[in-house]
Amino acid sequence: MSKRMFVALELPEVCRATLANLAVPIRGVRWLPVDQLHLTLAFLGEVDATVEKSLRERLAGVQVPPFYLPIKGVGTFGGSRPSVIWAGVGSGHPHLYALHKHLHDALFAAGLDPELRAFHPHVTLARAKEVSSATLRPFLREHDADDFCLLRITGFTLFSSDLGPRGARHTPEMHCEFNATART
Ligand code: 2AM
Repeated sequence: MSKRMFVALELPEVCRATLANLAVPIRGVRWLPVDQLHLTLAFLGEVDATVEKSLRERLAGVQVPPFYLPIKGVGTFGGSRPSVIWAGVGSGHPHLYALHKHLHDALFAAGLDPELRAFHPHVTLARAKEVSSATLRPFLREHDADDFCLLRITGFTLFSSDLGPRGARHTPEMHCEFNATART
């Protein structure tokens, strides 16, 4: 038995509600349900039961000091044919990148082969299909300078994801809280 898994930062309800409120009807754009909004740190794909046991042990050892992270601005992936509309985190955030690095070390140690693509931290708000960038420009202009929320990051969550006929269902499998004394 294997599970499709990913590691993410959960967002408080008030932050998710703020982001979900951005949804406006645009043809070809599917806004994510409010309960699915999160910031992905690592997508793991299918994880079998043996690897999952080792993964849980390694994840429990990932420690960075708690830090603040803003959710601000919007953007797209996909250039002139956008496939994703996202909310960003602004620039900088060494603690977030340190967390990402420690997490990837843990994934390797657990026998996983996480993707080594550059990390572009974002909260996916919507997926787009056959939508031009020009169509999305007014939305992007309107919200580009918005400050949505300021998060206090004190841990992260391992999720499983079931792809059903009505879309993905995400289940929190394990929450890892940082120790107050953790160092970068
Ligand atoms: P994203 O929405 O933040 O871009 C759970 O499916 C999460 O894992 C998604 O929210 C998505 O992140 C990420 N994800 C899903 N499929 C993926 C894939 N094939 N490669 C990389 N990340 C993926």
